[in-house]
Amino acid sequence: MTKYNISGVIPKTECLIVPVFEGQTPEAFLKPIDPVFFPYVQYVATLKDFTGKKLQQSVIFPGDELVDRIMYVGLGKEKDFTIHTWKQVVGAATISLQDRRVDTITFFIPDSILEKFEAELLSAATVAAVEVAAYKYDRYKTEADAKAIDLKQITIVGKALAKDKRRSERGVLEGQQIGEAANMVRELGNTPPSIMTPEHMAEAAQKISKEYPEIHTTILSLPQIKKLKMGCFLGVAKGSDYEPKFIIMEYWGGRKTEKPVVLIGKGVTFDSGGLSIKPTDFMINMKYDMLGGAAVMGTIQAAAALKLKRNIVSLIPACENMPSGKAYRPDDILTAMNGTTVEVGNTDAEGRLILSDAICYAHKFQPKEIIDLATLTGACMVALGTERAGLFANDDNVAARYTAAASAAGEEVWRLPLGEEYSEAIKSDIADIQNVGGVGHPRYAGASTGAAFLQVFVKDVPWAHLDLSSCYSDRGRPWIRSGANGYGVATLIEYLRK
Ligand code: BES
Ligand code: ZN
Ligand code: ZN
Repeated sequence: MTKYNISGVIPKTECLIVPVFEGQTPEAFLKPIDPVFFPYVQYVATLKDFTGKKLQQSVIFPGDELVDRIMYVGLGKEKDFTIHTWKQVVGAATISLQDRRVDTITFFIPDSILEKFEAELLSAATVAAVEVAAYKYDRYKTEADAKAIDLKQITIVGKALAKDKRRSERGVLEGQQIGEAANMVRELGNTPPSIMTPEHMAEAAQKISKEYPEIHTTILSLPQIKKLKMGCFLGVAKGSDYEPKFIIMEYWGGRKTEKPVVLIGKGVTFDSGGLSIKPTDFMINMKYDMLGGAAVMGTIQAAAALKLKRNIVSLIPACENMPSGKAYRPDDILTAMNGTTVEVGNTDAEGRLILSDAICYAHKFQPKEIIDLATLTGACMVALGTERAGLFANDDNVAARYTAAASAAGEEVWRLPLGEEYSEAIKSDIADIQNVGGVGHPRYAGASTGAAFLQVFVKDVPWAHLDLSSCYSDRGRPWIRSGANGYGVATLIEYLRK
């Protein structure tokens, strides 16, 4: 466990991080802290290799007793600076240093940054960025060198932070809790699919509620799911040797009279496509198809850790989509919990099927709002790429609030349309609806027809659907390593807080 510290002075450290805006000399930043370093700073300032460009890094070794290294980090142009830039810079510095086996790091925060943000926000952002950056899925690396080292001590030095120590320390705790929840989500996602089975997901939920007894977890097993007549969920789960689990997590932190926000997350622990099997190249990474489910688990964990005064229910239909003699078939007709019949056009459009029963179930809680997170369509990825999620909503207010929360959390979304043409496209000749459909062409508007399918099951409740095109990446970034990225937790916490 990393120890975090807020301080007004620079302690003995392996590395002092000094942030610099593009075009500014670093000297102004260090001067008020410790004139001892001044000659080095001036020297670096004369070298043209460090200009303060965003994410630029330059390390010098001052030969000082207290400070082994000074790392200059570029913040980019001051006018473009946001809290996300800060988190990226902090994360990138953390990864660079962790890779050099440096475990005692001090972030010096100059007044020019302190002026821009509140103490709590700034310390929370810093700590969350460090936590997320330091995480590496290295369980299967057998060589010690390939594993990430634990960070021992992170000190955040800033006059205004030290003055407002109570708030800053609260921020530190928040940053840790959100970072931890995001990393828990990433660990679940990164785990190989023959280990991360529906049962394993259910165990992860139970582990969370052991750690946070305020969270009440119920796991529905096959007989109970059958009793509830979740025919769509059962249909998808049939092909797998692993039994499905319907995970219910409840956190009643708000007033008794307040209706809960129900979060739903797709928990397909592996999506082979089923009998409509995916081609080789499209099956890779389908262990991540449970990241919506993991995100709503992580969110309720973080909500409990932060003691949010809100009522929250997380629902995760967890199953595997596999081909076999027992698998559901294209041409099958499934009946959802609410009686809606669904013609199966493609067994690879399984996410909407399992979510339809979860949405039906959500109404039992008389929800204030329903928000679902799902890796629902490749089409959303085609439309938006991998750094932004698609947002669908039947309510402008929920859409606006979610968009604002996502922006504040640095997890951008873009609203995509629901509408009559998409709802028409999923009508079936022989059942109420079908699980595929396009507008103009079978492959057109796939993200919108997927969302329109879910909409069928939403009664008169404000609802938002996030098509998670952005929850994992093959490619690491300077501030986060490759694999699952914990997308959704930070936004949902921000959303629930407001
Ligand atoms: N899990 C996939 C969607 C997906 C694909 C997410 C790639 C992230 C990366 C989903 O179950 C799926 O296969 N959707 C199909 C739907 C189609 C058959 C209507 C798709 O998008 O191709
Ligand atoms: Zn699929
Ligand atoms: Zn899927």
